[in-house]
Amino acid sequence: MRTPIIAGNWKMYKTIGEAVELVKALLGGLDASLVKDREVLVCPPYTALYAVRPLLVGTAISLGAQDVHPEPQGAYTSAIAPGMLVDVGCSAVIIGHSERRQYFGETDASVNKKIGAALGVGLRPIVCVGELKAERDAGQAEAVVGGQLAGGLAGLSAEQMLKLVIAYEPVWAIGTGDTATPADAQAMHAFIRSRLQAQFGAEVAEAVRIQYGGSVKPDNVDELMAQPDIDGALVGGAALKADSFLRIVHFR
Ligand code: PGA
Repeated sequence: MRTPIIAGNWKMYKTIGEAVELVKALLGGLDASLVKDREVLVCPPYTALYAVRPLLVGTAISLGAQDVHPEPQGAYTSAIAPGMLVDVGCSAVIIGHSERRQYFGETDASVNKKIGAALGVGLRPIVCVGELKAERDAGQAEAVVGGQLAGGLAGLSAEQMLKLVIAYEPVWAIGTGDTATPADAQAMHAFIRSRLQAQFGAEVAEAVRIQYGGSVKPDNVDELMAQPDIDGALVGGAALKADSFLRIVHFR
């Protein structure tokens, strides 16, 4: 049995005040009986982490970041080290989001380094993979995702892999309202699990959670979560408002 994990990726939205307000609204609206069997995570921008952390301590919502630098410290202007995220109260970090790949030169090799660095300080990596529209149209979706997995997860032990979450986020579905159909998402999740099985064995593949991301909304989350290999959601736009994120967290 895999514990479902719903994560909100706030991207470059929310001032400190807005972040605090949203967290308070989420905590106020959370149905404890519904979420006792699932994990809930919010990933605010770096500037808001310190302010929201005390609100989340001891609650059902944990704190994550949206990226991390692979080095423990150094002259890397603007970057945030893995230990700094632990220091501010994060337990997880998104790695390899398609926006990082598209706008900031993230590669499978840098994803691989960041995973190792995050694991080294006890952060749970949420590793994003996903194909472009043109790649899907060309019948390359599985090849692209398979390549991202092979590069990103290279050299990991089975024990390390068990600590990861994979997020399948087709790039054409992110922020577009154009969600993958539950059947298409399920097919890719099953493919991802088969690749995990080939690399890490059946037991690990069965245990690792695979989130779907890309225009997850209150009105499609139930159908997505009903798929056997979809174990959670990575939510962008719909995570910015308490009522829509709560409805997603409370999926049925
Ligand atoms: P979206 O973003 O829900 O706004 O499509 C998802 C993501 O980028 O993680």
